[in-house]
This record gives sequence, C-alpha cells and structure tokens, in this order.
Amino acid sequence: MLERIGEVAAEARRSIAGAADEESLRELQVRYLGRKGEVTALLKGMGGLPPEERPRVGGMVNALRDELTAAIEARHQEVQAQEIRRRLAATPFDATLPGIPRPVGALHPLSHIQEELEDIFLSMGFIIPDYPEAESEHFNFEALNIPDDHPARDMQDTFWLDLPGRLLLRTHTSPGQVRSMREFTPPFRAIFPGRVYRYEAVDASHEHTFHQVEGILVDREVSVANLIHSMKVLLAEIFGREMTIRLRPGYFPFVEPGFELDIRCTVCGGGGCPVCKRSGWLELLPCGLIHPAVLRAGGLDPGAWSGWAFGLGLSRLVMMKYGIDDIRLLLGGDVRFVEQFRKV
Ligand code: PHE
Repeated sequence: MLERIGEVAAEARRSIAGAADEESLRELQVRYLGRKGEVTALLKGMGGLPPEERPRVGGMVNALRDELTAAIEARHQEVQAQEIRRRLAATPFDATLPGIPRPVGALHPLSHIQEELEDIFLSMGFIIPDYPEAESEHFNFEALNIPDDHPARDMQDTFWLDLPGRLLLRTHTSPGQVRSMREFTPPFRAIFPGRVYRYEAVDASHEHTFHQVEGILVDREVSVANLIHSMKVLLAEIFGREMTIRLRPGYFPFVEPGFELDIRCTVCGGGGCPVCKRSGWLELLPCGLIHPAVLRAGGLDPGAWSGWAFGLGLSRLVMMKYGIDDIRLLLGGDVRFVEQFRKV
C-alpha cells in the first residue's frame, strides 16, 4: 500500500509539473482526484488494511490529495500567465499609443450658476424649498394679486394642462412666495430657483422655457432701505465686486412699491454699447416689497408682517456671465454647447 502511494505521488507530481495547458490539467484532475481517480482509489483501498494502520495511511493519502489539489491550482495559474504572455508577444503592442478617451459629462452653465447662487444664499441663512412646475391657477396668479381679468395675465399667458384643476406650467417662480409663507413660520428667508414657462414667440432673446431664481424675506418692519441693501449685498456676492445700481419704478401686482433694478453695464462699464443698447444699464432684477394682499394669501397679517421679494432671471444672468448672445442655445440640447463649460 505504501509503495503504491509513493508511486502515485511521484507520477502525479511529474505529470502536473509537465502539464502544458489547461486541458491536460483538467485531465490530471480527473485522473487523480476525480470520483474514479487514483487517489480516491487509494482511499477506498484502505478497507483492506489492518485497522491499526488505517489512521496513519489515511493521513498520508489525505495529505497527498491536498498536495495535488494545490499543485494543480498553482500550475493552472502558471499556465494561464504563460498563455497571456504568449498572446501579448504575438500581438504588436505599443504602450505609447494614446488611450481611448472616456466621454465625461459637463454641468450645464445654468446648473453652475444655480449652484453658485445656492451656496451664496445658504451662507446668508436662506432656505431653498422646491415647488412644482405644474402649478395651480391660484398660486400662479390669484394669490399673487393677479385676478382673472387682470391685464398682467396677458404678458404671462401660458401653457394650460389638459387636466382637472386648472393647472398650468408656472410662468414665474413667484408662486413660491405664497407657498413658502404657508409652509414656514416667519421670520424666514428663502430662494426658489427653477424652470418657468411662457407662451412666447421664440427668438434670440425669448424662450418659452427659461430659469429664474425667486427670493423672499419675511420679517417685521421690512423697508425699501432693507430691500436695496439686501439686493446690493447679493449682487456684490454674485459678481464678486460692488455693483453700481439704479432703481426705476416697476409694476408687478404682487409687490408695492415695485422696482426694476438695473446694474451698470458689465460690458462697457456704463459708456454705452450694443449689449446695454447704448443706455449704460442692464435690467437685471425686478423686486419690491411684498404686497399686503399676497401676505394675506400666505396666511399672514400684513399689519404684523412685511417682506421683500425679487425675481432674478437666471437664464439672463448666465448669458451675461458667459457672453452668450442667443437664449436658444441654453436649452437647445446641443452637447457641443454644454461641453464648453466643462470645469477642468
Ligand atoms: N415674477 C416676476 C416676473 O417673472 C418677477 C418679480 C419677482 C418681480 C418678484 C417682483 C418681485 O416677471
């Protein structure tokens, strides 16, 4: 029996070391370790041994089985490595060739600027709730002091949804004013960036879909002086320097008084150029003190609470910052446009 074990071991070791490919290793595996293999036969043959010898001989056979299993595995890895080396040697391989570039996406410039603004406002204690783009007639118009027959509706007539409940695609982010008043307890400050829609004849400066950032602050005894100060602070943050501004009266039914806030033209510095239509000023930020009717619609007592609101044209701001002269490029879906804004 011992002799036989020695023979099987020697022969198996030799064959495994000499196996040249995976196929022969598989055969050796079957021949020695398979159900009808030689090592298995040795184990079965132990029945013929005197009982006192069985543990010792059994241990030897088991050790042989473990040894051969490990040897086959090790040889298998060697054979595989050899095969890879052989194939690499057979294929001309130029390690200096450039790799295959992986396409990497880019954030849309609207997203860049929106994120920048969100950081600025978060640092000033504003919250950023999210409100629906499919809005009710109530929040988009009525609650903002724009009744059914009001001419201001004509400027913003829009896409009505063919669903019950008089839903439309919001024409501005201002519905967030009333929604936030209902949601949060004053004093609070919030911005709501988002997509808005209008029934527009599309050209280089008009899109049916564009982006705004609305901001409001609700507190006690908020004044026009507070409004102007806050707008100057936030413009300085956005542009990274003090901006020269001017206020003109502006009419929006949901603010009183209401203003158009202009900044000194960022292109010509005020001398007059095509961008500012030779006026030296850029219209940027409609704003005002929240109308009492809007506070009431938000569930607040106008005798106790007041506030300011602004509506920043995010699309306009992006166009100004990057010198984009056609608004249709923003949502045109051409990746070549977006790729130019990849941050490296
Ligand atoms: N919602 C107005 C618009 O879209 C902008 C605005 C917002 C004006 C807040 C005043 C105050 O034109």
